[in-house]
Amino acid sequence: MKPLLEVKNLSVDFKNDQGYVRPVENISFQVNPGETVCIVGESGSGKSVTSMSIMRLLDYENGSISEGQILFQGEDLARKSKEEMRKIRGNDISIIFQEPMTALNPVFTIGKQLTEAILLHQDKSKNEAWIRAKELLELVGINDIDVRMKQYPHELSGGMRQRVMIAIALSCDPKLLIADEPTTALDVTIEAQILNLLNELKEKINMSIIFITHDMGVAAEISDRIVVMYAGKVVEEGDVFQIFDEPTHPYTRGLLNSIPSEEGPRQEKLTSIKGTIPSINNMPGGCRFNPRCEYATSQCIEKEPQLYKENGRQVACWNYKEVIKKESMAQ
Ligand SMILES: Nc1ncnc2c1ncn2[C@@H]1O[C@H](COP(=O)(O)OP(=O)(O)OP(=O)(O)O)[C@@H](O)[C@H]1O
Ligand SMILES: [Mg+2]
Repeated sequence: MKPLLEVKNLSVDFKNDQGYVRPVENISFQVNPGETVCIVGESGSGKSVTSMSIMRLLDYENGSISEGQILFQGEDLARKSKEEMRKIRGNDISIIFQEPMTALNPVFTIGKQLTEAILLHQDKSKNEAWIRAKELLELVGINDIDVRMKQYPHELSGGMRQRVMIAIALSCDPKLLIADEPTTALDVTIEAQILNLLNELKEKINMSIIFITHDMGVAAEISDRIVVMYAGKVVEEGDVFQIFDEPTHPYTRGLLNSIPSEEGPRQEKLTSIKGTIPSINNMPGGCRFNPRCEYATSQCIEKEPQLYKENGRQVACWNYKEVIKKESMAQ
């Protein structure tokens, strides 16, 4: 199967007051048609910067793609003009964010915003767009559609607003939906409903999803494959079963250990890996995870790990074989 999206050796630079920083360095992963790929990692690991570079929305900040390719259906998005990208964003790739209230316009009704989005991308009359808008609301599981169409964003609950955002994102029939922590601001029950909805939609309309989260529990619910990022690098990638049954990177293990238990309080941020993610201005040499890693050896401090590829998965750890051996003995 040909991948829908292939990110190849992507690096991103930002200009800040201390010169240039590189929040994403030399990352590669792919998304196949109909597949949900989760990008997981702690705050600051470069997940949003990665998604913003795929959408080429960095251009509107002070960031730029310095190296690599973003092949979407074989064409390199990194080399598209602003105008070409605007078309791709309106037709093939959509994005939803954490807080739908900031993306919805408070002074227009849901119906108006949805029909506007449809009219922007599709050659339809106002009447046809209104009908399509109602179909989309139905698709995302909203009831009392005629009432909802006439309401303003503040009249809806957070979960419902996120459903409306998903409906708007689907209005162009995207082949790829990028969802950047779309459920982080919601409570657990509503989060579960939105995850179910995305799983259903994926089946119904055969789109691919890149789902960004810092929560491995959420990744387990929704992903076919998982890309683990740490401090701007991909440290591990594999299908969901490989990652959960046999995580090979010590960081992935740490993330899995920090999944909150069903009964326990919900954690806002991951806490159980000792230490914190390094500052972007001061990355450690060798493996960027070495200061926090219980398996670190002198090699990890001196040399950046090689990327090992095996059985459709990749891991960037000098000692991954040791990690597997020790952990399987511990069990
Ligand atoms: N516009 C910007 N200018 C300079 N640095 C930025 C900019 N946007 C992000 N960064 C830096 O890039 C790094 C990665 O940020 P990013 O937002 O991708 O993290 P993230 O993994 O999405 O985290 P979170 O889980 O908190 O959303 C951070 O160190 C951040 O400070
Ligand atoms: Mg983010």
